[in-house]
Amino acid sequence: MGRPHTAILVLFILMCLCTTGYSSGIKSRFTSIISFGDSYADTGNLVRWADPVLPPLPMSNPQYGETFFGHPTGRTSDGRLVLDFIADALGLPFVPPYLGKEKNFSAGVNFAVAGAPAVNLTYLQGQLNLTLDPPIRHSLDDQLVWFQELKPSLCGGQGSNCFGSTLFVMGAFGGNDYLSFLFSNRTVEQARAYVPKVVDSISRAVETLIQSGAKYVVVADIFPLGCIPAMLTYFAGRDKADYDQHGCLATTNRLLPQYHNSLLRRRVKVLRSKYPHATIISTEYYRPFTAFLHEPAHFGLNSSTTLFACCGAGGPPYNVDFSAGCGLPGVMACARPSEALQWDGFHLTDAAHRIIADGWLHRPYADPPILHVAHQ
Ligand SMILES: *[C@@H]1O[C@H](CO)[C@@H](O)[C@H](O)[C@H]1NC(C)=O
Ligand SMILES: *[C@@H]1O[C@H](CO)[C@@H](O)[C@H](O)[C@H]1NC(C)=O
Ligand SMILES: *[C@@H]1O[C@H](CO)[C@@H](O)[C@H](O)[C@H]1NC(C)=O
Ligand SMILES: *[C@@H]1O[C@H](CO)[C@@H](O)[C@H](O)[C@H]1NC(C)=O
Ligand SMILES: *[C@@H]1O[C@H](CO)[C@@H](O)[C@H](O)[C@H]1NC(C)=O
Repeated sequence: MGRPHTAILVLFILMCLCTTGYSSGIKSRFTSIISFGDSYADTGNLVRWADPVLPPLPMSNPQYGETFFGHPTGRTSDGRLVLDFIADALGLPFVPPYLGKEKNFSAGVNFAVAGAPAVNLTYLQGQLNLTLDPPIRHSLDDQLVWFQELKPSLCGGQGSNCFGSTLFVMGAFGGNDYLSFLFSNRTVEQARAYVPKVVDSISRAVETLIQSGAKYVVVADIFPLGCIPAMLTYFAGRDKADYDQHGCLATTNRLLPQYHNSLLRRRVKVLRSKYPHATIISTEYYRPFTAFLHEPAHFGLNSSTTLFACCGAGGPPYNVDFSAGCGLPGVMACARPSEALQWDGFHLTDAAHRIIADGWLHRPYADPPILHVAHQ
């Protein structure tokens, strides 16, 4: 009986080392994180900006934040985002939002804003004949303007001096560009025509960062848009042939996120050879998301709710009611968010983010894994 116990004990210790050892033990090269992105990375910019310009946003109400922070923080989840788990594993504080009250950016700053598209907003609105009043979407270009403005005061007033020990995180970007098209009565094919432009915009932003002194840049891909409950509800009742084996919109996934991600991967290769002194880490949302759908139990997720928004209304199959979204009065969250994948119909749970972050830190969802780079 001794042997199996020993084996289990050793495995347990290894697992512990794997999940917590790095942050407490070996020192990381990174002393700060500078982040750009959309709601998947926003740690509070949109809600700070919106107050008092707009009526309170749903994401500034419970049940947002219920699992980890115990109160809403402006994150579109029940708890932490992937970025939070990354910061934590590197022994750094949660990355403070640029627009937040806390203006000490010595350990990093987050420019990500929920709703942000990758392409210039003026351009996007022109294409879609949209006018947003007030224009709440702070696009990638706007975030880069903030970065350039703040740059001289970063690194303790030393400009870009600390960028050699800064982890830059670019993304995710692209989801809002494509959703804007689809929710504006454009076809998936029409949205597809903009994929190269979106990827260009991300690629140019990465170049801007490297030319500003960045040495380590994470570039995130986008998740399968056709698997989120909001999309599935909006486009409900399609032909059976439109759905894949997991119940996702197959054509949407193929023409938008899969195409986007393959162009982005190619672009990262080009950037790597153009800037060999920089380390570009490509990270994935798409593959872990499909792994959750494929084998939910393996990740501790409930297999009957993978396409069901934990926080929402309307009941099965997707629990999305566009007039009763998460954060509105009377809208409840599911009993066990720790076993749910989908949080509010557009975004994922703390539990899902933790697993994705783990794959970015160690493997297999990052190339190279962030902790390998941190401890080189
Ligand atoms: C800013 O935060 C850092 C830790 O992240 C701390 O060491 C430093 O003293 C703070 N600076 C100010 C002015 O509060
Ligand atoms: C754009 O919107 C305006 C006002 O709603 C409308 O008059 C115009 O025809 C639209 N243009 C296109 C190309 O859809
Ligand atoms: C977006 O594009 C418009 C028109 O090309 C330009 O005037 C504007 O400065 C751009 N915005 C940003 C933030 O770069
Ligand atoms: C959506 O697009 C179709 C085809 O382009 C058009 O017939 C329809 O009127 C549009 N609907 C709205 C609400 O704009
Ligand atoms: C999974 O979710 C369903 C629907 O909410 C629930 O009935 C079931 O008990 C859950 N399964 C587990 C193992 O918790």
